[in-house]
Amino acid sequence: MSQKKVFVVLLAVSSVSLLLHRGGHLIWTMKVFRLDCPSLQVHPSPKPKHTSIAFLKTHKTASSTVQNLLFRFAERHNLTVALPYQSCDHQFCYPRPFSARFVHPHTVPPRIITNHMRFNLSELRRVMPNDTLYVTILREPASMFESLFSYYNQYCQAFRHVPNGSLEAFLADPWRYYRPDEKDSMYARNTLTFDLGGDKDHAPSDGDYVSSFIAGIERVFSLVMIAEHFDESLVLLRRLLSWDLEDVLYVKLNMRTSGSKQNLSNELPAQIRDWNALDSRLYDHFNASLWRQLDALGPECVAREVELLRAARDRVVRGCFGGQLPQLRPATQIKNKELRPWQPSSKVDIVGYDLPPNASRPEAGAGRGPTTSASS
Ligand SMILES: *[C@@H]1O[C@H](CO)[C@@H](O)[C@H](O)[C@H]1NC(C)=O
Ligand SMILES: *[C@@H]1O[C@H](CO)[C@@H](O)[C@H](O)[C@H]1NC(C)=O
Ligand SMILES: *[C@@H]1O[C@H](CO)[C@@H](O)[C@H](O)[C@H]1NC(C)=O
Ligand SMILES: *[C@@H]1O[C@H](CO)[C@@H](O)[C@H](O)[C@H]1NC(C)=O
Ligand SMILES: *[C@@H]1O[C@H](CO)[C@@H](O)[C@H](O)[C@H]1NC(C)=O
Ligand SMILES: *[C@@H]1O[C@H](CO)[C@@H](O)[C@H](O)[C@H]1NC(C)=O
Ligand SMILES: *[C@@H]1O[C@H](CO)[C@@H](O)[C@H](O)[C@H]1NC(C)=O
Repeated sequence: MSQKKVFVVLLAVSSVSLLLHRGGHLIWTMKVFRLDCPSLQVHPSPKPKHTSIAFLKTHKTASSTVQNLLFRFAERHNLTVALPYQSCDHQFCYPRPFSARFVHPHTVPPRIITNHMRFNLSELRRVMPNDTLYVTILREPASMFESLFSYYNQYCQAFRHVPNGSLEAFLADPWRYYRPDEKDSMYARNTLTFDLGGDKDHAPSDGDYVSSFIAGIERVFSLVMIAEHFDESLVLLRRLLSWDLEDVLYVKLNMRTSGSKQNLSNELPAQIRDWNALDSRLYDHFNASLWRQLDALGPECVAREVELLRAARDRVVRGCFGGQLPQLRPATQIKNKELRPWQPSSKVDIVGYDLPPNASRPEAGAGRGPTTSASS
């Protein structure tokens, strides 16, 4: 081993142990990155953080976690976030296609938009800056549909009339319960396609439709994240936006208890993918493209950054919760009512967190290393 290599290894070991045992000082670890993983360098020459982002928040895909991350970034960087007009509720008048009129005038001109909407590019362009980067997230259709089915069970007409609320019964004969034009039908078939502005009921056998729809998404979206590979997706997001590691730390939000999740038996996933064939094509395409991008960065470098991200996240979270990782709690046990997540029905428990009464910002420097290194 050359002297230089030995030095790099020593630096890596001491940096990782610093990170693990002392917390903070990510600056060292980031320096190791520069030496070992040039493809992960965010700033070959110092490049400012990108601040204009349109995140298409899809349903039941871990998108609340991304939204929360964007809200916190906007707060720290004093950026305006487009919010819906009151009468639109918290979604931009979903399921109507997005219109510039749905944006509350107090929130224009925005830098970030991240609430649920049905995508319409030309209308978004009327509100967002011309250097906006478009990002979205997809989830594997079988687990996503199981989630939609339980979350909207009492809400969506197509699901309400299914005997015993049985997913198996619905999939055995979906056309018996599903009406394309009924209220909330977008939660019952090809929800991703619908949210992205597509035709959820288009014949899946029309290959041209699917490929041109996918090509359109590829032209507009700089990154399509994948919920199953969330941390790896964040590596790409961070790089796309030239953000610091600190900017992509997160705590998972809006999750169900494991008892509220149905374990899918052998034939169900295939039936679900069949019923949601357009979404399945989308998902397979963009999962493959995510992994092509990760491969280009180098799997070891990606794995290293994911590890760093998790360590930094745990440290910051422990800082907020008095040294421990937070306990997920059913809504009824969360003392601060404002922190209780919305419960869609009596059969589904969405869990959340209580903040300790003495919650404070993490100690100075806990996650700030990269800020320094990025500008150095
Ligand atoms: C935040 O932005 C607003 C509007 O652009 C500006 O008036 C205000 O001074 C900024 N605040 C800080 C702390 O930068
Ligand atoms: C999107 O908005 C444009 C106008 O900006 C409109 O012509 C078009 O019909 C809209 N698309 C949908 C699907 O509503
Ligand atoms: C984007 O908008 C800015 C300011 O409004 C303008 O100066 C610039 O030329 C625009 N760029 C493009 C590519 O349209
Ligand atoms: C609904 O549940 C009841 C009681 O468990 C059962 O007897 C009935 O067969 C179920 N119906 C269907 C359509 O699964
Ligand atoms: C599904 O499986 C997990 C782990 O095996 C278990 O914790 C959970 O209770 C199961 N859910 C149901 C609804 O059976
Ligand atoms: C996504 O693609 C990768 C690489 O081909 C594969 O290993 C992984 O299983 C896929 N993920 C899902 C959830 O299908
Ligand atoms: C916050 O309060 C808890 C319980 O009273 C205590 O264990 C913890 O050390 C406190 N954390 C801080 C940062 O003061």
